Amino acid sequence: MIGVFDSGSGGLTVLTALKDTLPEQGFIYFGDHGNAPYGNKDAETIYALTVSSVERLFQLGCSLVVVACNTAAATGLRRLQQTWLPVHHPDKRVIGIVVPMVEALTGMPWTADPDPDRQVRKKKTVAVFATRYTVDSGVFVEETAKRAPHVNLVQQACPSLVRLIEDNAPMRTLERTVRRYVQLLLQRLEGRRLDAVLLGCTHYPLIENLFAAAIPDKVEILSQPRVTANSLAGYLARHPEFACCQPPGVTFYTSADPHQVTRLARRFFRDDRMQFKAMP
Ligand code: DGL
Repeated sequence: MIGVFDSGSGGLTVLTALKDTLPEQGFIYFGDHGNAPYGNKDAETIYALTVSSVERLFQLGCSLVVVACNTAAATGLRRLQQTWLPVHHPDKRVIGIVVPMVEALTGMPWTADPDPDRQVRKKKTVAVFATRYTVDSGVFVEETAKRAPHVNLVQQACPSLVRLIEDNAPMRTLERTVRRYVQLLLQRLEGRRLDAVLLGCTHYPLIENLFAAAIPDKVEILSQPRVTANSLAGYLARHPEFACCQPPGVTFYTSADPHQVTRLARRFFRDDRMQFKAMP
């Protein structure tokens, strides 16, 4: 099975794209709703929660886990891959969602040499909305600047959004909050034209329509779920040993109250078959 993990319901946006792109695969989704949101916690706490969530998915039989949480991936995915995984589970793999997004932003593979024409390329401004932790980590800005300095990222932390989404806040509250964060970002552009928007938190595609309504017309929203799904399809083609041999489908687990979590997930996905169970 392929594990998909997020601090809460945001990773479901990624899971939906993974299922659409790879319908023959079997998935186990784990939302650590009991500890969400991660985005305002300190790095060591986020790292420890990430390791324990990945371990739980391995115990359920996953051999590959997708960390579908920018906050967790930005905090400690590299450390997890380089130090924890080789010692505890050398035969398993953990991949994230930051690398595919930086590849999409820069238009080049992660390990490619910097583009020799990059200095003469047309400048682009991309807005990044993310959690406080992801913004402070600077991961999107640094990794993009190294490879494609013509792509200028302007970040806006949205510290209250994940909590509001997980608490099932009324749409008008979410709408007002999104509008306020978008206004803050637009003010900082000082008249520069916006070329694209990256929703750098997997919870935000759940309210992508609110972002689309608040940003200027015709500005493209880059889809992290779609980019991640294409990247996983490529990964499985290169590493067929991690493709799943189980019957296709998804089992959903949460560390919080499964009834409440199921209600929230069904609100956003309008899918009555989604049914969370308590993580054993
Ligand atoms: N979905 C997580 C992300 O992509 C949200 C993190 C949180 O729990 O604050 O960053």
